[in-house]
Amino acid sequence: MYTQLEQRDMAEPPVNISTLRQMKIDGEPITCLTAYDASYAALIDAAGMDVVLVGDSLGMVIQGHDTTVPVTVDDIIYHTRAVARGLHHAFLMVDMPFMSYTSSEQALDNAVRLMQEGGAMMVKLEGGDSQVEIVGHLARHDIPVCAHLGLKPQSVHKIGGFKVQGREPDKARDMVDAAKRLQDAGADIVLLECVPNEVGRAATGQLEVPVIGIGAGPHVDGQILVLYDILGITQGRTPRFVQNFQQGHDSPLAALQAYAHAVKNRDYPRPEHCFS
Ligand code: KIV
Repeated sequence: MYTQLEQRDMAEPPVNISTLRQMKIDGEPITCLTAYDASYAALIDAAGMDVVLVGDSLGMVIQGHDTTVPVTVDDIIYHTRAVARGLHHAFLMVDMPFMSYTSSEQALDNAVRLMQEGGAMMVKLEGGDSQVEIVGHLARHDIPVCAHLGLKPQSVHKIGGFKVQGREPDKARDMVDAAKRLQDAGADIVLLECVPNEVGRAATGQLEVPVIGIGAGPHVDGQILVLYDILGITQGRTPRFVQNFQQGHDSPLAALQAYAHAVKNRDYPRPEHCFS
């Protein structure tokens, strides 16, 4: 009993939600990256990443769509199964795709599929106050949840583009307050995308759960980026917060290690990657 998770490698035990909470308390930056297949998952794991996300960004970087909107639960399950086979150490979080959590019941059904069929350890959903009830419902069923605020790519057509969020003081305050309500409802992690540094700092200071940022500045508890962005193979324009870690490194593994190292040492993000 209880051997599978704890005895895979006692020198380097798998990351779990308690590990991530302790890292926040200790002030140790959490390293996170997206993955979509077993080979890269194994490399990311070998580079020592703490969290791997099977993001619905796969709709753009794998499937070639302009947005994440076309991604389905079956797509996420397919890629999660592959990624799970490559991981031994990292914590596996997966996205709930567009329109897969429009009610508490639907969210629970789909989260169960992502965990049972895919092997996810946590589900991530985009939302604010309108998702508090859903997050609470998942939490009451012991489904670990990450709440994604700030720029919500699934809402791109409603927002009118991929834009920095929370620049106005009242919007910034509302976002941090919504994050607190999501935490109180049971969210275990908050992820902030494309927000000014000050929003990242305020959320990180006011929340007990870890805050992971992508374009959210240097003050958050951890950083996440899209794998293909840091390898420099994303087509088209990459966002301001992206750093190409393949430059100056002669293998994908070396690039992944450089990214993990830069986050742990707070060498990434630098001012040129941030919004103020
Ligand atoms: O889908 C994704 O890759 C994400 C990250 C950008 C955080 O949600």
